[in-house]
This record gives sequence, structure tokens and C-alpha cells, in this order.
Amino acid sequence: MSVNTLATQRVGEKIWTIIVAAGSGARFGSPKQFEMINERRVVDWAVETARVASDGVIVVLPQAQAQREGGVVGGATRSASVRSGLAAVPTDATIICVHDAARPFASEFLFHEVVDAVCNGADGAVPGLPVVDTIKFISIENIVISTPDRSRLVAVQTPQAFRAKILRAAHASNPESTDDSSLVEAQGGRIVVVNGDPLNRKLTTPEDMNWARAVTRGEV
Ligand code: C5P
Repeated sequence: MSVNTLATQRVGEKIWTIIVAAGSGARFGSPKQFEMINERRVVDWAVETARVASDGVIVVLPQAQAQREGGVVGGATRSASVRSGLAAVPTDATIICVHDAARPFASEFLFHEVVDAVCNGADGAVPGLPVVDTIKFISIENIVISTPDRSRLVAVQTPQAFRAKILRAAHASNPESTDDSSLVEAQGGRIVVVNGDPLNRKLTTPEDMNWARAVTRGEV
């Protein structure tokens, strides 16, 4: 007899995902989440996978798009946009994932990995990839302060999954960060790292967009 451990673990869990897609694309030059990859916008790739992997999805958009297509209006920063999304997640959600629209190729498997880590007792879980470059911690004057041990560094991606109550508490004082796990860490939360995926690249430059289109053509 086979036992579906995934289903067993998840009994009673309500999993919601917030997709943050309200950035202005300052580095890209325009809101990259609305560029097309094949017949779908970047944001739609992320939303489609999140819908399969979650019980419900909240999409956080700039005001114009939110008015036009429904969705939640974002804030001036990523953290503020996550909070707009949090306000729309039903209070009975037990696990909340936060995912950047700028990562269109996050797999359903990766969503399951981070959610499973939370089901297994972590406060939060993030995908991480080994760092290949040597990383320097520098001052604002570009002077090297220290060189962390590379074997203990990971580059962190989204989706990031959290126990809902813990994520809400971490955002309660309106803190700012480039991701959500750092806010949970700051509250003493235990964050587990699961294997990240090189295909789950964050699209930041026009070259990244060309790469993404090449992936869908099977050229990468
Ligand atoms: O700027 P960055 O690349 O870190 O943005 C990560 C994600 O956060 C993107 O998907 C972007 O659309 C979103 N974001 C947002 N609201 C902001 C800034 C960024 O939803 N004010």
C-alpha cells in the first residue's frame, strides 16, 4: 500500500500565494513583468504555476493594471506591496508563499519544496543556490570590509513559504527588506533552505528577457 505523505502532511493547511508584480522596472527600463514571453506576459507565467500549487493566489499590481484586470494595488516598495497582498489573503490561510513575478520559471515542484519545509516545522523556507563567485562585504566607499566563507553562502530565490501568523507578525511594524525571509529572521524565526533552481532566474535586464525567450524555444 502506498501512502501519500504529501497529502497527509498538508491536511488542514490552507496555502495561499502572493505574487508581487507592482514594481516599476527601474533597472529594466519598463515594468518587465508585462513583457511577453511567447503568448503570455512574464507575470502570467508565475501566476499560472502558483494557481496549481496553492489554494488561492493574490496578484499585486500597479494601480492601472489592478483597476483593469482585478488584483490588489501595490505599494512604493516590494515590502509594502507584500503587505497589500497580505491584507487580501483570507485569515484562515495557514501557509503563505510570496513570489516575485519577475521569476516566471519557478516550478510547481519548488513551491511544493518550500511548503513542505514549513509543513515539517520551519517558520519559513527559501530556495537557495550555491554561490560561485567570491563575495565581498564592502563599505559605501567601496572598501572591502570582509570576505565571507563562500561555502556558507547561498543566493536566495522566491517562492518563499511561511507559517502565515509568523509572516504577518514580521510585517506588522512595516519593515523594509529585499525579501521576506530576512524579516522573519529578524524576529528570530527559523528559515530552512531548500535546493534552488538555476532556471528560476530573476529577470532583471533585457538580456535576461532574451534568455527567457530562448528557454521557451528550447535553445537553452
Ligand atoms: O525590484 P525587485 O526586482 O527586487 O522586485 C522584485 C519583485 O517585487 C518584482 O516582481 C516586482 O514587480 C515586485 N515589486 C512590487 N512592488 C514594488 C517593487 C517591486 O511588487 N514597489
